Formats: sequence, structure tokens, C-alpha cells
Amino acid sequence: MPWRLAPAKINLTLEVLARRDDGYHEVRSVMQALDLADTLYFNQADATRIEADIPGWEADKSLMTRAVASLQQATGCQRGVEITVEKRVPLTSGLGGDSSDAAAALLGLNDLWRTGLTTGRLHELAAELGSDVPFFLAGGTQLARGRGQELAPLAPLAAMPVVLLSPDIAMPENKTARVFAALKSRHFTAGDYTDRVVTARGAGPCYSPEHGFNAFDEVAARVFPKISRYVSDFVAAGAGRIQLAGAGPTLYWLAPDLVLAEAVQRGLERRGHRAHLAWTTAGFGEDGHFLYNEINTK
Ligand code: C5P
Repeated sequence: MPWRLAPAKINLTLEVLARRDDGYHEVRSVMQALDLADTLYFNQADATRIEADIPGWEADKSLMTRAVASLQQATGCQRGVEITVEKRVPLTSGLGGDSSDAAAALLGLNDLWRTGLTTGRLHELAAELGSDVPFFLAGGTQLARGRGQELAPLAPLAAMPVVLLSPDIAMPENKTARVFAALKSRHFTAGDYTDRVVTARGAGPCYSPEHGFNAFDEVAARVFPKISRYVSDFVAAGAGRIQLAGAGPTLYWLAPDLVLAEAVQRGLERRGHRAHLAWTTAGFGEDGHFLYNEINTK
């Protein structure tokens, strides 16, 4: 049965430059795909049905449902599909799981239905579904501008382990919109943090986590009041610089090596948390599996 991986992402930088007239914000971000991923399985069918293997997930709320409709509308294709999803990326976590599932659905159905849309057209459909969706068409490491959908590929970083802690807290409706709305103009920056990471990408595969930045780090505690306990447990478990993933509430630490990453993961588990360990990836190979830039770490 055809399948496709739908990776999670983190934002190495996430800068907000200004409010725009269309209700969005102008962003600069270096986005990084991880090998923590959902897997989508596709089956030809007369009617469309989408299922996932975890409680709390609803097809009606998933961007995949909109992705299927959007591809049908764009191509006139009347066929159906059964998509079965193994969910591994935590829901509403800032790791982009739903956006990634939607991108994987567009790519998977364009193959399954042989609808032949170009990469450019798929990118347009993805951008209509959500600002983060186009990134997941290729994954790896990319510079994002505009509302997040204007992308340029960057040289991949050396594979690095990432410890992820997704707080088990109730999520407000329209979380992303709320987090953007919580920003004051003093949280806006000019894009310099992102420029620095982009320049470093050109200079070699190593990445220094102290170059990281997320405009939402400062407002996260207001939108997710219970997050501070997770931050202090992460620090107590031995992590270095902790950052918010996207709009949160997931927190991540890019570890210098696997031994330290596993020690912090165990430290979090001792404190009663379920932490994920993932690797940064360099995109997808021909066979659909992840590529890694295996410079000295993996
Ligand atoms: O594009 P997406 O549907 O994911 O955006 C959800 C919400 O997040 C938007 O309606 C908007 O309020 C906010 N947003 C923003 N600026 C961006 C991306 C999202 O203000 N660049």
C-alpha cells in the first residue's frame, strides 16, 4: 500500500517583523524537519475516509480533509481515497503535525490519482491550506518568509538529536492566532537572528543552538500559564538552551550528542513527563525515507 511520511518541524528561528494588512504577520524563520513523523497509508476507494490511530483526533478538524477536497477541486478528479494515519506527532503542539499531514496528503494523492500537478501548483494549494503547509512538501532545512509560505531551501545541518517535551495542557481554540495576537510591537525584530543562521548554513553543517530565537518565547507563559513547570523540569533534567517549537507549547532542546540527549530524556521521564527524542533530517530520499546529513554525529 502506498505510504508517505509526514515529519514534525521545529523553528530554529521564528521572528515576527510586523503586522500585515491581511490579518497575518510578516515572519522570518528557519524551519527544520525532524524524523518524528506520522505515516499516511493510501488506498483507492470510491468514497473518502480518513482515520487516525489516536483518541482525540477528528477527521473533520484535520487539514487532510481540506487537502483532499482542494486537490479534487483543482483537478476535477472525482475519485475517493482511504487514508489511514499512524499519528506520532503530538496534536496541537507547535510541531506542525496537522500541516505536515496535509502536505503529505497532497503529495500522496497527486501520485495515487495521477493528477500530475506541478510542484508549483501543489505549493499554491498547500499555501491556501495554511502558512506552514508548503514547508512540508520538501522538509529539510528552509528559510521561510512572508506569512511563512515563501520558502528557500538551505544547506542541511549535521544531524542533531532533539529532545521534545509537549506539555500536557489544555489548548485554547485558535491557538496560533492567539499566540500571534499576544505579541506586542516590542517583540517584533528585524530578521537579524534569522540572517545569522542563514549565513551560518552557508558556512558549514554545524549549527549552534545559541543562535536560536523565537518571538513567542516571551509570551508563551501568558497563553499557556502552566508551561513554566515544564520549562523548570526541562532545565532540572539537564537541558541547555530550551526553545518553544513554533507557536508552542512544545519545548525543545537541540543536544550536542545522543548521550546527553538520552540523559535529559530519562531525566524528564523520572519527573513524570513523556519526552520524545528525534533527529534533524535533510529531506526525503527517492525511496520516501528520511535523509540525514551524517557529518560526525549519527
Ligand atoms: O496560516 P494559518 O491558518 O496556519 O494561520 C492561523 C492563524 O495564525 C492566522 O489566522 C493568523 O491569525 C495567525 N498567523 C499570523 N501570521 C502568520 C501566520 C499565522 O498572524 N504569518
